[in-house]
Amino acid sequence: MRAEASDESAQPSAPREIAQLYQRTCFSCHSSGINGAPRTGDQQAWAARMDKGMDTLVHNAREGFQAMPPRGLCFDCSDEEYGDLILLMAEQAD
Ligand code: HEC
Repeated sequence: MRAEASDESAQPSAPREIAQLYQRTCFSCHSSGINGAPRTGDQQAWAARMDKGMDTLVHNAREGFQAMPPRGLCFDCSDEEYGDLILLMAEQAD
């Protein structure tokens, strides 16, 4: 369990990859909370969103939701990746 960084290809969506995707996409609005976007790491703000259920949130990320633009700048994200991005934003402390 203490393998060095050499083992990371074993995971299909390694955390680092999602973090990079996040930096290129959702980050530009969700880091600062632009236009009322729930801020990354603001667990309270995200808890209210999470109550809708992950399926709805993924759908809204893909289709857009009020001030949230469709696809959130990620034009080739899969539903699974949207889910990972949402979890990253909802759970990341800071
Ligand atoms: C251009 C700015 C912008 C970008 C880029 C952006 N968002 Fe958002 N997002 C918003 C705003 C603003 C809201 C708040 C919408 C509202 O409640 O009116 C929001 C809300 C959301 C919500 C909550 C929707 C709901 O049903 O409550 C999810 C989920 C979400 N964004 C996911 C993402 C993901 C995933 C990405 C990156 C792939 C992303 N966003 C990129 C602006 C953005």
